[in-house]
Amino acid sequence: MAIERITVLGSGIMGHGIAQISAMAGYKVVMRDIEQQFLDKAMERIRWSLSKLVEKGRISGDEMNSILERIRVTVDIEEAVKDADLIIEAIPEDMRLKKETFEKIDSIAPSHTIFASNTSTLPITEMAGATKREDRFIGIHFFNPPQLMQLVEVIPGARTSKSTLDVAINYVKSLRKEPILCRKDVAGFIVNRIFIPLVHEAAWELKEGKAGMREIDAAFKFKLGFPMGIFELADYTGIDVVHKATKEMYARDRKVVNPCPIIEDLYSKGHYGQKSGRGFYEYKQGSYARVELSMQEAERYDPVRLLAVAVNNASWLISNDVAGKDDVEKALMLGMGLKEGIFGLAERTGYARIVDTLKGLRDSSRNDFYEPDALLLNLVKG
Ligand code: 3HC
Repeated sequence: MAIERITVLGSGIMGHGIAQISAMAGYKVVMRDIEQQFLDKAMERIRWSLSKLVEKGRISGDEMNSILERIRVTVDIEEAVKDADLIIEAIPEDMRLKKETFEKIDSIAPSHTIFASNTSTLPITEMAGATKREDRFIGIHFFNPPQLMQLVEVIPGARTSKSTLDVAINYVKSLRKEPILCRKDVAGFIVNRIFIPLVHEAAWELKEGKAGMREIDAAFKFKLGFPMGIFELADYTGIDVVHKATKEMYARDRKVVNPCPIIEDLYSKGHYGQKSGRGFYEYKQGSYARVELSMQEAERYDPVRLLAVAVNNASWLISNDVAGKDDVEKALMLGMGLKEGIFGLAERTGYARIVDTLKGLRDSSRNDFYEPDALLLNLVKG
């Protein structure tokens, strides 16, 4: 099936990016939100991003204009979905809202239209159940910022057809991105199963007074090789997004994350990160900002606990056949910008030390979230 028209529901951080990259790949795009002011803000962001790409010589000024011409915005849901071949939902992470939206558009959209959700963690199969097209329903999960991150996770639900999966994979490839198949509809899929628990683990270090925020961030960046500090990344992603993903993941599977109250606290105060002007750090509201971190700060903190938790969750994904080792490694590199494979990092640190760290955390917290995965235990033996 040839996809020509794409509708993106939601114009927030992810929605506007997905609309932009779809238009950049030549699709005719409709972006829909509930208020015109959200759409205006989204178009402003798209213009900013495209201007950056023009500045860098990645596209020409003429291309920028034709990309913008391919994006239409509307607040009218019927108008938005009636001609779409593929609809990508990027509305807030609220299962009831998502189900209501899918149920509604199921009766308006053409029968051939494929529905996709960009959810960070909600079960695809359950969402698909709100429609009468479970075979034409799939998870297509982008990473922030979609304009720059190469990874897209593709998550079939229990009844997704092979042809829907093929369409999703071909669509991702047409964006010149790398699709990685998440074989099981598990909480957090691949990357969020590692990213979200990492934010909490770093927050525990902070809460327990093991190190300061900047030291932890600098070590995460310079010693582990991520492009941003973990608190910087949480602020950039949105504390609200991290908080909601945590709640959903934890409700589905208690072994997926050890929630730290600092996140709940920031969320309840409305400190959502860059978007609200304050999260772990303070920002000039609304603009893309980075935190300056130094090597000297990195020297003051050993990130072994963060690495141990990350590689333990990576092992869980492999042991449970959610993805193979190469795909898990690739997902972290393309979805979070990690410089090298996480198992290479763990090997250099020493698997025995990683496992001892996990056992120590398990025993002191009496929380089996830290139970070392069988794959890690075998690596120590091997
Ligand atoms: N469009 C175009 N250009 C952009 C942009 C965008 N959306 N965002 C940033 N840029 C530009 C910057 O303005 C900068 O331009 P300049 O050189 O003119 O100043 C340029 O890109 C490079 O940015 P930085 O200087 O900040 O340098 P980096 O090399 O660190 O790249 C980054 C930025 C790609 C964001 C990188 O820091 C990164 O990969 N960060 C990690 C992001 C990540 O982990 N994302 C996944 C989060 S989890 C998720 O999304 C899942 C969800 O379900 C929760």
